[in-house]
Amino acid sequence: MAKARTVFVCRECGARFPRWQGRCSQCQEWNTLEETREADDSGPTLHRAIQRPAALAVDAGSGLVTLDRIERRPLQRQATGIEEFDRVLGGGIVPGAVVLLGGDPGIGKSTLLLQALARLESAGAGPVLYVTGEESAEQVALRAERLGLAGLPLPLLPEIQLERVLAAAQGLAPRVMVIDSIQTMYTEALTSAPGSVAQVRECAAQLTRYAKGSGTAVLLVGHVTKEGSLAGPRVLEHIVDTVLYFEGDAHSSFRLVRAVKNRFGAANELGVFAMTDRGLKAVSNPSAIFLSEHRADVPGSAILVTLEGTRPLLVEIQALVDGSASPTPRRLTVGLEPNRLAMLLAVLHRHAGVSCFDQDVFVNAVGGVRITEPASDLAMALAIVSSLKNRALPLRLAVFGEVGLAGEIRPAPRGQERLREAAKLGFTQAIVPRANVPRQPIPGLEVIGVDRVEAALERLR
Ligand code: TYD
Ligand code: MG
Repeated sequence: MAKARTVFVCRECGARFPRWQGRCSQCQEWNTLEETREADDSGPTLHRAIQRPAALAVDAGSGLVTLDRIERRPLQRQATGIEEFDRVLGGGIVPGAVVLLGGDPGIGKSTLLLQALARLESAGAGPVLYVTGEESAEQVALRAERLGLAGLPLPLLPEIQLERVLAAAQGLAPRVMVIDSIQTMYTEALTSAPGSVAQVRECAAQLTRYAKGSGTAVLLVGHVTKEGSLAGPRVLEHIVDTVLYFEGDAHSSFRLVRAVKNRFGAANELGVFAMTDRGLKAVSNPSAIFLSEHRADVPGSAILVTLEGTRPLLVEIQALVDGSASPTPRRLTVGLEPNRLAMLLAVLHRHAGVSCFDQDVFVNAVGGVRITEPASDLAMALAIVSSLKNRALPLRLAVFGEVGLAGEIRPAPRGQERLREAAKLGFTQAIVPRANVPRQPIPGLEVIGVDRVEAALERLR
């Protein structure tokens, strides 16, 4: 064993530093560095886990192999039957894959995974194993009862010691194993506390090695922690094959599961669920859930057609522009990028003569969705000017397009699909970048192509 050395590891992002510092210079979080003995570190184990995935056909001896000689087997996926979950996984659970499901406490991680395992178990795709380190077996049984699953012979293991978990798994040989949560697990090999960076990484590395060696798919639950004492799921993102994050507004029943990394499917794919009193229900046609119900047209509202993963979603963008009492007016976004708002206000001033320098500007994406794509610019701009001038946009109007610093409107990817979705939901007009105007007209939808931000604002006159 190498000589023990002390390093400081950030529990948010996993960055390493030779000396303690108050702020992690990698992720800019304060007070997240944790003292770790180097011999404790999972580095070497990690390498062993990743270097030799069991699925590769490698020459004996040196391990050297040429690309053309590697046996390529089509991925066999085990669909869970929960459509939206399968969608974010890229079609189902891949044998030997390690999936991290992150999210705030209480958002529904345990519920979703219990439902998924129950589906697999009752479909005869098992055996499966649910390892609960956070809740007692009774608590899980109570949840199962609520979900109408209490009658199922689902193998459950209340355990936090990794060696015992692995021993049980070797006995049962489950096809899918859930670890709820990785932050409660600890391995005897290390002396640091459960939840510390070293423990979380070492446990995940050992579980990864087990998954690759046995073909068991391992689903890890990871709590997102705000200034907590637990290591965040980000320290694991590079170890696992797939990273899913739960998003959602605590006040709305909609829950979004987003794939931020997926070695076996498309990243950025989105699954939409509703939390009901009997668990999570997949919302298979979610394109309209983020529209609020306005019966008349109201100022300060524009409907954006955004793209989430592979599917278009209509989201209402609301803006409120109001005279500011402060010498430094407020600019606030919820669900949208604050930097893009600042840029848009500058573009509106310079190219369209719209000035908001003495106004507070608030912009909100309805329903707790987070929109990061630049194609949301035009909807934001229209909502802002609509609020400022107190003039509403037409009721059944949908919008998308990126606004450039020169005031030009840039095309958005997959414009046709966005327009077809809008037409399907009963929209009758769309303002889009000129390059996105379809050659064949879309029945029922008048498409207005614009190439300058001023031209788009004409619609508010
Ligand atoms: P849970 O899956 O325990 O969250 P996590 O594992 O991410 O911490 O979900 C807990 C929340 O979900 C809790 O506030 C209760 C709610 N819930 C329902 O609304 N309906 C249900 O059927 C279940 C099981 C939970
Ligand atoms: Mg839980």
